[in-house]
Parts: sequence; structure tokens; C-alpha cells
Amino acid sequence: MGKAVTRPITLITGASRGLGREVAQRLVAEGHTVLAGVRDPAGMKPLPGADVLPLDVSDPASITAAAASIRARHGRLDGLVNNAGILLDQDGDALTLAAELLQRTFATNTMGPLRLVQVLAPLMARGGRIVNVSSGGGQLSEPATWAPAYCISKTAFNAVTVQLAEALRPMGIAVNAVCPGWVRTDMGGAAAPRSLQQGADSILWLLLQADPLLTGGFWRDGARIPW
Ligand SMILES: NC(=O)c1ccc[n+]([C@@H]2O[C@H](COP(=O)([O-])OP(=O)(O)OC[C@H]3O[C@@H](n4cnc5c(N)ncnc54)[C@H](OP(=O)(O)O)[C@@H]3O)[C@@H](O)[C@H]2O)c1
Repeated sequence: MGKAVTRPITLITGASRGLGREVAQRLVAEGHTVLAGVRDPAGMKPLPGADVLPLDVSDPASITAAAASIRARHGRLDGLVNNAGILLDQDGDALTLAAELLQRTFATNTMGPLRLVQVLAPLMARGGRIVNVSSGGGQLSEPATWAPAYCISKTAFNAVTVQLAEALRPMGIAVNAVCPGWVRTDMGGAAAPRSLQQGADSILWLLLQADPLLTGGFWRDGARIPW
């Protein structure tokens, strides 16, 4: 009998469409066991080869249930792509930003991925990789005035990334943030210069190709960018 081949097990949040779906499809092609986290499994276009996992990252109960399901069915996790995100801002700046809008945005873009790592990191071993899909809008080195709830949530997500990277460094689990660039998705719109494939490349580089010792950085196109 041949040696058993262990397929990496990777969870992607927000895999129903856009970048998350593209990353999930490409990881299926790479031979991963792909857990496609989606909040409405019945309403999504089929994702051949992936295991669809109900997961609303803004709902702590949904996170707990998804983690229990992964523990029971697989017992471990090798990769986590925190991709799910929302951009709810219409217009305005920080002077008119409604607290409720900021809270809703934080629940998905910042608190959700933090909670998810807290419950899933114990299933990950040395060499595990967590990729946080952030945005250039969260960079403090490039002051932004557009979409304040979104940009502030991504800045905080970057801070979460740095904290998690340090907390998980002793366990040999890498945590990095990535900006995919401006990509043609429902969020990015039709005028965006980048294709889905180009946007997903940066995410997949961190997950599949980057030096596993790289942790606590912010990346775009395989190169470090300032926070
Ligand atoms: N597109 C860009 O230009 C761009 C640039 C920089 C960063 N990003 C980041 O890239 C990531 C993906 O963006 P995208 O452009 O692919 O956006 P998108 O096309 O709007 O897709 C967003 C995905 O997130 C999911 N989602 C939203 N809220 C969720 C929740 N509470 N729980 C689980 N899933 C949830 C959506 O699921 P439903 O189908 O259920 O709504 C959908 O699958 C986001 O984090 C975004 O901030 C995008």
C-alpha cells in the first residue's frame, strides 16, 4: 500500500463570492481539503470540491458551532483565511460616522476574525498559517478619509494581526495581513483595475509560498507594505 497523503485542511471565510470564492476554488485545485465558510449555504452558487460550512463571522454562536464541527470532523486545521468583510459606508467622513455603523462593521471585519482565531488556533499545529485579508484603507501610513467605518475596522484588524502573530509565534503559527489591491468584486466594483485572479494571488502567496517563518507583517503582491 502507498503512503497515505495528508491533504492540508484550509478554512476560508466569506467563500460564497468574490475573493473568498476564488481562493477556495484555487485551493481545491491545489488539492486542499477546503472548508468554505458561508453564511447562507442554500443561497450560494455551488462550489465544486469544497465542503460548505455554515459560518457567519459576526455571530459568536455561529463561530462556536463551526469550530465544533471542524474539531469533530477533521480534528485539525492547517490554514485559515479570514476573508469575510463588509463595506457599509455610503459617504461621509469621521465627523458624521454613526457609532452603530462602526459597530456593525467591526463585528464582521475585526471581532469576527479575532474570535475565529481564538477558537481555531488550538486546532492548528506548528507550520499553520493564518492570512487576514485586510485593505490598504487600513494603513495608517496612507491617511484615508473615505469609508471611515471600513477603514477604521481594517486598521484595527491590522492591530489584531500583530497581536495574534506575537501570541502565536511560540506555537510556530504564522499570522499575516494582506491587501489584495483594488479588485473587481461586488465590493470593489466594475471599475477596479485588478482581476479576481490577481487579487487572490497575494492571499495565496502568503498561504502557500511565503517563508513559514514570516509572521506579523502586512503584504501586497508578495512584498511587505507599511502598516
Ligand atoms: N475588492 C476589493 O477591491 C478589496 C480591496 C481590499 C480589501 N478587500 C477585502 O477582501 C475581502 C473580500 O472582499 P470581496 O471584494 O471579495 O467582497 P465581496 O465580493 O463583497 O464578498 C464579501 C464576502 O464576505 C462575505 N461576508 C460578509 N459578511 C459576512 C459574515 N458576517 N460572515 C461570513 N461571511 C460574510 C460575503 O458573504 P454573503 O454572500 O453571504 O454576503 C461574501 O462572500 C474583504 O475582507 C475585503 O475587505 C477587498
